[in-house]
Amino acid sequence: MLNETSRPATETEKATPAGPAAFSGHFGRFGGSHVPPELAATVAAIAAAYERYKDEAGFRAEFDCYLTHWVGRETPLFHAANLSRELGGAKIYLKREDLNHLGAHKVNNTIGQALLAKRMGKTRIIAETGAGQHGVATAAAAALLGLECTVYMGALDVDRQRLNVERMRMLGSAVVSVTSGGAGLKEAVDEALRVWMADPDIFYVIGSVVGPHPYPVMVRDFQSVIGREARRQILAAEGRLPDYCLACVGGGSNAMGLFHPFMEDSEVKLMGVEPGGRGAGLGEHAASLTHGAPGLLHGSFSYLLRDAAGEVAPVHSISAGLDYPGVGPEHSFLKESGRAEYVTISDAEALAAFRLLCRSEGIIPALESSHALAQAVKLSPGLPGDNIILIGLSGRGDKDMAQITAMQA
Ligand SMILES: Cc1ncc(COP(=O)(O)O)c(C=O)c1O
Repeated sequence: MLNETSRPATETEKATPAGPAAFSGHFGRFGGSHVPPELAATVAAIAAAYERYKDEAGFRAEFDCYLTHWVGRETPLFHAANLSRELGGAKIYLKREDLNHLGAHKVNNTIGQALLAKRMGKTRIIAETGAGQHGVATAAAAALLGLECTVYMGALDVDRQRLNVERMRMLGSAVVSVTSGGAGLKEAVDEALRVWMADPDIFYVIGSVVGPHPYPVMVRDFQSVIGREARRQILAAEGRLPDYCLACVGGGSNAMGLFHPFMEDSEVKLMGVEPGGRGAGLGEHAASLTHGAPGLLHGSFSYLLRDAAGEVAPVHSISAGLDYPGVGPEHSFLKESGRAEYVTISDAEALAAFRLLCRSEGIIPALESSHALAQAVKLSPGLPGDNIILIGLSGRGDKDMAQITAMQA
């Protein structure tokens, strides 16, 4: 499953002179491992362990077995015929990551990292979470594999994602509410990194394709099951590849997971959808690739949002899982190389797309995934009827019901 050596090197890997076998964690000028000296050995040990186990038959068999029997893969590729008809234009397919155990794509990664932590002899794991989906998926993997787990979550997100806080506790994890700064996902990562630095025996399960090497490549590899299945499924359904792949981008893991297996298919347009929030002003959105510039955040060189003083900027999105001032380094590379295009969708557009999918297809999507849907709402009517749009439906919206209901009141 994790063996990527049987396919041609991707653009990203070609940009790395040493090639895939000795991947250094650099995507062109982005990525790397910019960590304080206290963490360097810990991070290097994880990189070495990942390199050792990623293609090992026993590790891969265990990972695949959990994906099938615990996560519930493969997830369906659903032809959203009603939505396609209502919008006019292209034929729209949804890759149903909302049907995974726990309701989102995050679990593909947490089971992989938790298995790696076990192989490394770790007994304690930590995680950050925004929407709570990564926290829940980490808590569940910890329960399954007998690991002790603490999840750090911004106080703002604790408030808007109560259900997931209760789920994490039910699964046996401790949840720590982080009140510093904007009390969001960035502060949760800051706190998890601080705790990790003080105790390197802990394994930090990072929830997206962000952070120092090997996290961006490791999380991408674990999530690439999304694109591998989708590629096979669309070929079976249509006899050809899609014209567009759309996915929302917070840190960028569901998008990387969907995009990666299509990377060499130049006829497939890859489109990442960032949270445009309430407008283009600083603090009103979390669109790092659209409005940001390259810099260092959480151990990696990538696009990020900063204020005039160079400080990491406050961010806003209606969806807690997209509310992050940075983005994975491979997305920065894809943006600059032109292989992927990044656009924004506002809070209001995401909410309208959320309601549209509920009514047209009987599916309640996550607010994060609704950003990708909203891009299809914009794009589809202008496309010929023989075009195919494949949307990564990264999660389900149960977790967002309280927030949306409160907004209606
Ligand atoms: C359902 C869902 N989709 C997307 C995201 C954004 O994360 P990423 O960009 O890493 O896929 C989250 C984050 O919590 C999420 O819960």
